[in-house]
Amino acid sequence: MTQLSMPPQLTSSAPQSAHRTDHRVLDTDHRALDLEQKARLVSGGDTFRSSGEPAIGMHPVVCSDGPVGVRGERWDEADTALLLPCATALAASWDEELVARMGGLLAAEARRKGVHVVLAPTLNLHRSPLGGRNFECFSEDPLLTARIGAAYVAGVQARGVAATAKHYVANDSETERLTVDARVDERTLREVYLAPFEAAVRAGVWAVMSAYNRVNGTSMVEHPLLAEPLKGEWGFDGLVVSDWGSVHEADGPGAAACDLAMPGPNPAWGAALAAAVRAGRVPADALDDKVERMLRLARRVGAFDPPAAGGRAPVPTDPATRGALRAAAVAGTVLLHNPQRLLPLEESALRRVALIGPNAATARVQGGGSASVFPAAPVSPLAGLRAALDPAVELVHAPGVRTNLRPTPLAAADCVLPDGSAPGVLVRYLAADGSLVHAEARATGRVLEPTGEVDLAPVRTIEVATRFTAPSAGRWRLGVVGLGALRLEADGEVLLEEYVAPLSDDPTYLHVSPSFRQVELELAEGQQVALLARRAVEEPHGRVLVLAADRPEAELEREFAHAVELAAAADVAVVVVGTTDEHESEGFDRAGLRLPGRQDELVAAVAAANPRTVVVVNTGSPVLLPWRERVGAVLTCWFPGQEGGDALAEVLLGRAEPGGRLPTTWPDAEADCPVYGTAPTDGRLEYAEGLHLGHRGWLRTDRSPAYWFGHGLGWGEWRYLALGAPSAPAADGSRTVRVVLRNEGPRRSRETVQLYLSRPGSELERPVRWLAGFGAAEAGPGEQVEVELRLPARALEHWSVAERGWRIEPGTFVLQAGPHCGELPLAAALTVGA
Ligand code: BGC
Repeated sequence: MTQLSMPPQLTSSAPQSAHRTDHRVLDTDHRALDLEQKARLVSGGDTFRSSGEPAIGMHPVVCSDGPVGVRGERWDEADTALLLPCATALAASWDEELVARMGGLLAAEARRKGVHVVLAPTLNLHRSPLGGRNFECFSEDPLLTARIGAAYVAGVQARGVAATAKHYVANDSETERLTVDARVDERTLREVYLAPFEAAVRAGVWAVMSAYNRVNGTSMVEHPLLAEPLKGEWGFDGLVVSDWGSVHEADGPGAAACDLAMPGPNPAWGAALAAAVRAGRVPADALDDKVERMLRLARRVGAFDPPAAGGRAPVPTDPATRGALRAAAVAGTVLLHNPQRLLPLEESALRRVALIGPNAATARVQGGGSASVFPAAPVSPLAGLRAALDPAVELVHAPGVRTNLRPTPLAAADCVLPDGSAPGVLVRYLAADGSLVHAEARATGRVLEPTGEVDLAPVRTIEVATRFTAPSAGRWRLGVVGLGALRLEADGEVLLEEYVAPLSDDPTYLHVSPSFRQVELELAEGQQVALLARRAVEEPHGRVLVLAADRPEAELEREFAHAVELAAAADVAVVVVGTTDEHESEGFDRAGLRLPGRQDELVAAVAAANPRTVVVVNTGSPVLLPWRERVGAVLTCWFPGQEGGDALAEVLLGRAEPGGRLPTTWPDAEADCPVYGTAPTDGRLEYAEGLHLGHRGWLRTDRSPAYWFGHGLGWGEWRYLALGAPSAPAADGSRTVRVVLRNEGPRRSRETVQLYLSRPGSELERPVRWLAGFGAAEAGPGEQVEVELRLPARALEHWSVAERGWRIEPGTFVLQAGPHCGELPLAAALTVGA
């Protein structure tokens, strides 16, 4: 893997010359096109492709989600991809070089899949801990998001693949996401929500995606913010792409600064846009500007070059790539609590380890929604720990509880094709007259798309058939996921027949969380039953069909007791609790912060049975940990990506240091959160807290969170010794700050040193303090080090609404340094003149 060195502007938030001039970009091509061609050029050709224009040799520009991998154009498990740690995990590394390297891996994946534009990073903020897509966003903090996001953009684009800063702007929660009107004041927009986008533009991002929501009354697809500050003041010369399906008419978005409407064909764009220009409702210049931007992007990403010939290389599995993903997962893992130094485990003293929890044997490696990809072979905690432990150490496992909300697709181990020839299910695509269009065998009961190119136009019915063998006795819950006319048969008997109407017109609903139905069937252990699921295919309802089987409820009590028994009889109990892509997903916000199901009860029972209990929290965003003072150690691995299990084993056994620091505050109680609810009132969501989200909000209350923004222990014991006076400002207004610290722990360690600013006696409303800079120190036991951190001019500036510009209030700021925003042992004054 190529090591990318970071361009210097990445650590800067001071104004830079925004764009390289791309000598290949000619702005004359569009003059050769007529009105219809121009309008088509800025229209989607299909779900993930733009239209292209043969007359000028431009191929369709191919887009793909993002951000944890490059899914490609197909939404199917047969199309596998590298899977990175989720955005919160990447941000938890506070390490821009690492994130840029991850961007390089994504670019290589994009190239492998013929993708020109990666629809990532997601630069919205963790405004409320309930935000359904928080796992996909970096942080609650604008500066951390800006720096990590800019590094991501630079890493992707260094290999000629476009990144897309999304969703511009204030798309910070999912409830009513297609219509919600976020009410945000101008200063808050500038200093908080627009700041990460500004940094992405300064890093040279080639595409920006407009959000679905409204801001202060206007839909983002036609919002003046697309023109100013994005394209004007910031000098963004790339392409604004609509979020999928958000363009409903040509006039508004056409006259505004939205460039490409996706997906297509869209009756409201294309020919309708040409007609709007002809009628004078959309200025011809506005269309020309869109076309120029489209052409510039096409040139940047190589869409004038013929698509690569020949077959596609398989997803990489080489040790270097897997090692890089593992290292990233380790770097994001946050050790939250370790009072007796139970971690790292002393391997030589281990005889029997109990690995407990619903997320131990099943790798829960990513959140849900358009961000999800299909990893080839994700490593579960159980597989990772088994591979890492000495074979002489016994490793026992029990899930203890279940947390799934949706039916579990049939697993290959439990089913064979109807003719018994191999494990799996048989899928048949049928035309209206019942004739077979396509058939294939699949490994599991989850059917999203056929493998390979199949013309599905004539398909009216999809069937999944298999012979299922019950691994245990009881009332099994058989399920079918799909829309329209659904039917389920067992040994020829109809168990279910119903018309299931869609519950949402949100584009991800069809792919991610379509409705399902379940029925119970009593089966003996080892009993085999022939199952047949069938659904009708109607145009707007998608083609997902899942045949599922969930174990009998009566087994649950036994499972719980068994897990606690195993824990009691082990040298150490590791409990992996968490959420799944069913709980944290695009399309909806979380209902609360408790761990789903009986997981809290399970941890409490295990901890009571074995004081040497380590809890691994496997979620994309904060959850409540009511037992956190009663267990030996707590760490969060987030959604760690495909190598999560191996990374976890390295951390538990002390072969690597958990390098993460929280990118977002973890509360002890829902009621304590300064910003909580995400439900709009009459369609409006008031950002009434203004500048004070996340830790800034906590600092204004008398409550302490469970763990502050920036917290994370690692293996070191760091003493902060000195904070030097900031240097005089450099030409770009930034200052240098030196911090001296010593590692007094017994092991080598890396520390994330954080700088915060405050402004006592300010004339302006201010956060109590705000993150102003950060950097890493590394030292062996007993070693003292000095780190040099950059304090950008912007950290001292505020947005003046009256003067419509960035200003510095003269006077004395207080600079503080320390391990997290709740513990800042060093301080220095910084006086700025008029
Ligand atoms: C999401 C975007 C995504 C797009 C394409 C939308 O529903 O909001 O983040 O890139 O779908 O899948």
